[in-house]
Amino acid sequence: MNVRALMQTIARQRWLDPVDRVLGTVATRALGQDSPTPRAVRNALHGTWLQHPLHPAITDVPVGAWTAATVLDAVDTLRPTNELAAGADAAVAIGLVGAAGAAVTGLNDWQYTSRDTRRIGVLHATLNVGATLLYGASLVMRRRGARGAGRGLGLLGFALAGTSAYLGGHLVYEKRLGVDRTSGQTPPEEFVAVLPESELPERQMRRVLVHGMPILLVRFGDRIHALSETCTHMGGPLSEGELGEDRVTCPWHGSQFAFDDAGQVLRGPATFPAYCFETRVRDGQIEVRRADSCQQQPAAAVAPAAPEMAAASSPG
Ligand code: FES
Repeated sequence: MNVRALMQTIARQRWLDPVDRVLGTVATRALGQDSPTPRAVRNALHGTWLQHPLHPAITDVPVGAWTAATVLDAVDTLRPTNELAAGADAAVAIGLVGAAGAAVTGLNDWQYTSRDTRRIGVLHATLNVGATLLYGASLVMRRRGARGAGRGLGLLGFALAGTSAYLGGHLVYEKRLGVDRTSGQTPPEEFVAVLPESELPERQMRRVLVHGMPILLVRFGDRIHALSETCTHMGGPLSEGELGEDRVTCPWHGSQFAFDDAGQVLRGPATFPAYCFETRVRDGQIEVRRADSCQQQPAAAVAPAAPEMAAASSPG
């Protein structure tokens, strides 16, 4: 059985659904859109402030600490001494703290998944809970002087954590959970005509394709804004979202991206900013090209070009 078939088998496991319901209820009540947890906290847990998902960064703590504990235990067992016991115990404890952080951030991200990704996430979480319980029991046994039992429990926990980490990797690399959904798109580096200016009414969003990349256009008076149209969170169509004075809200999970601040995420769950584009009008055509900052668009930038400039930039 290859990995894809294995994951499809996991995705068909209906016995995971009761766990899914429990996790879903906890996630909704503790971290959902209408939960009492402040949005700023939920955004922080997603990693919006980091412009990168926080969960995979935090998972390095338990994985690294428990790997260190396993190595220290192995060295002590081989010698055999207990010189490294204190270090191993500390590593187990550090891993437990990291596991708590990974659980909260992971649950916060998982609540937006669906279908097979969701079930694989449920198994990932279940294994992590199992590993955490085993390491918790391991620490208790170590403190009570039953070091052999503590090491055995730790080894079992390490096996579960390793299996879970594999599933987590699959969720990222195959299911693209937490991946910037605009990655792989090719924003134009040079100005490209995308739409006649007359076809962009005031305060209406238009989706255009440039080199296969969907771009969102919107006009506010003499300013034309352009952002990548694909939501970086899970690929929602921003042109079908809600238009605000300075932002667009994704119709799928409510992420907000700024028009005037380099496509920054103003509200999660998205963590990666949108691409923003410099715009101008030449020969009645709206043109866009990639920009590092969206703030460079004064009214003059979208005003009709001077005749000599228009002639210089027109094809042929
Ligand atoms: S796809 Fe989730 S917020 Fe846009």
